[in-house]
Amino acid sequence: MSKQEKIDWLVDRFFDDSLAAKAVLEQYWNDDRLLQELHDDFIENTLSNYYLPYAVAPNFLINGRDYTIPMVIEESSVVAAASMVAKFWYSRGGFHTRVISTEKTGQIHFLYRGDADGLRYYFEKMKPELLRATGPYTRNMRKRGGGILGMELVDKTADMPHYYQIHVRFDTRDSMGANFINTCLEAIAERFVRPDIEIIMSILSNYVPGCTVRAEVECPVEELYKDDAVKQAEKFVKAVEIARVSVPRAVTHNKGIMNGVDAVVIATGNDFRAVEAGVHAFAARDGVYRGLSRAEIEGGMFRFWMEIPLAVGTVGGLTKLHPLAKLSLDLLGHPTAEELMQVIAAAGLAQNFAAIRALTTSGIQKGHMKLHLNNIIRQLDVTAEEKEFLIKYFENRTVSHNEVIKKFYELRKKI
Ligand code: MEV
Repeated sequence: MSKQEKIDWLVDRFFDDSLAAKAVLEQYWNDDRLLQELHDDFIENTLSNYYLPYAVAPNFLINGRDYTIPMVIEESSVVAAASMVAKFWYSRGGFHTRVISTEKTGQIHFLYRGDADGLRYYFEKMKPELLRATGPYTRNMRKRGGGILGMELVDKTADMPHYYQIHVRFDTRDSMGANFINTCLEAIAERFVRPDIEIIMSILSNYVPGCTVRAEVECPVEELYKDDAVKQAEKFVKAVEIARVSVPRAVTHNKGIMNGVDAVVIATGNDFRAVEAGVHAFAARDGVYRGLSRAEIEGGMFRFWMEIPLAVGTVGGLTKLHPLAKLSLDLLGHPTAEELMQVIAAAGLAQNFAAIRALTTSGIQKGHMKLHLNNIIRQLDVTAEEKEFLIKYFENRTVSHNEVIKKFYELRKKI
């Protein structure tokens, strides 16, 4: 079916008002035919475009360098919080970040029913040939300084009868590397043939504890809060510690970090599902799901940091294909993958800082409600005076959609 036929098929079957449904889908088409075709071709059965706001958070100082960070996110207050926190830390030395490691892995999962020593011998003997099989695919990556770092046979029979892996380690330089890794793994698997070996699957792992970045901020405790700095800072540290020992809190704590992380990951055309999966698995690496950040007060200094895994790229995939992803990377000064990891980690830590600071002082709802109120007011076609009245009225009252609408109509009636 053509795109038009697909839309007709859809709206006729699933909508009471098919014309209205069609109008909504078509409303988001882009007039620029080539741009629309580009988006149509990213996936299959494309009918329309789904907008998310594209914003920037300025004033990030990361390792002494200024950044304005692109963020794509639908949740109000995330960008405001990032910008505010960036400015706060700007005058306190900014964010200090560093990449710890950049290794990614993939596995060939297979069953083998013979004797383990025989398999080990066969694997070691075959290793050079297995590596050679990837030669055509790794040539360009090797030129850029990356490629296959090594491979090991892993005996998993204690977890599942007859189950083994070939665990392959990669350096994918500035690319996220998913296609590269999967191509290499399949080429290896194709050569690892024996009647008693049954290959189940070959696939990269989104668990990347060997591809991690650290972000940190620090300042004298007195500079952290205007009033009662020591007590407030201690409360902040306790809140971070609670996320280390309470799973319900840890999940929400980490969600706050991911507000910042995902927004930049999406803005730069990277795979946020891969990042999410990898980060949460990392958060549970010692068998218990924990908050990812840490905080301490030592010698009068407040320190707040986290280490997270991030498999992202600045070449390949959507990064050059999507005009806004490309623009984001231009805005960040054409970063390498390692630089991008650091920017993303800073955005995540900033978001976490904003949340914990709000939660342990005024609470999170005050700021949220202000933005929520603004969103409701925006839908109401109010005059400037009505807007002012509503903002004042709800200053110390609970904002709900119903209450705002009710107050608005009361106000209109009076006039
Ligand atoms: C909301 O999107 C994120 C927070 O819930 C994070 C947190 O509780 O730390 C505010």
